Amino acid sequence: MNNDDFDSFERAGWVGRAAAYQRGFARITAHTIPFLLDAAKVTADTHVLDVGCGPGIVTSAAVDRAADVVAVDADPEMAALAGAENPSVPVHVAVLPTLPFADNTFDAVVGNFVINHTGDPAATLTTLRRVLKPGAHLALTCWTYPAMRANGVFTEAVEAAGVHHPDDVPAGSPMSQHAQQAPFGELLTSAGYRDVRVDVLSWIHRVDPHAWWTDILAGTCVNAAVITRQDELTQARIKREYLRIVKEYATPEGQVALPAVALLASGVAPTGDGG
Ligand SMILES: C[S@@+](CC[C@H](N)C(=O)[O-])C[C@H]1O[C@@H](n2cnc3c(N)ncnc32)[C@H](O)[C@@H]1O
Repeated sequence: MNNDDFDSFERAGWVGRAAAYQRGFARITAHTIPFLLDAAKVTADTHVLDVGCGPGIVTSAAVDRAADVVAVDADPEMAALAGAENPSVPVHVAVLPTLPFADNTFDAVVGNFVINHTGDPAATLTTLRRVLKPGAHLALTCWTYPAMRANGVFTEAVEAAGVHHPDDVPAGSPMSQHAQQAPFGELLTSAGYRDVRVDVLSWIHRVDPHAWWTDILAGTCVNAAVITRQDELTQARIKREYLRIVKEYATPEGQVALPAVALLASGVAPTGDGG
């Protein structure tokens, strides 16, 4: 699958998922928000752009810090939800790597789990650098690849059920090859950022196993596409395998405690004097 096909898959894949994403998967992505905002030095009055804002959870946290926030998302329903949650924030529909902003506009750019949804991560980093003021901060999170357990249990369940991964559903994303500490750092350095660092964030996502199944099927793209296009019996078989696999993480309260791991990359836009 080439980058344009990946982008087309993504555009179609998010349609109609915003509300379910907000109720479900956004609970796992929320964990990284304080680290992301700290890495981008977002404080009161920082003029910050939240890219791939989804339902606006990072935007809300930046508003809570009294930052001056602008947000964009490729999906109109996500953008509408982010705007409804944050009435004071201008929210635009924009598809990375294109952004409707002038050069040198922002003090900071943040993107929580969006770089792994873009067809061209390098071009996206170049655009983000363009809209950052010289010396301004970028911070991005991304899932590690191969997939960490909270996501990986679905791939494993599909395989255990003997289901072939459909050819027209991406097996990874163009970001997958960079989704480890050193390669992610090299991607930012190649795009011209300085003071680059990539940290690993690990946490436990506690969730009812049936709710997590629904969160993934209703509120995400790739695993949802693989599973929901199967017939009912096959979906039931995949779910049985999923429940068997996640038993390993069962808690006495009837939840599962799923390990999650993400990368947090940050860098500073060059000042033009080599510094
Ligand atoms: C996993 S969600 C992350 C949402 C939110 N940042 C969060 O922390 O939960 C990815 C979001 O990126 C958006 N997205 C995907 N590709 C994009 C692109 N090329 N440009 C802008 N947004 C994109 C999707 O519509 C979706 O809202």
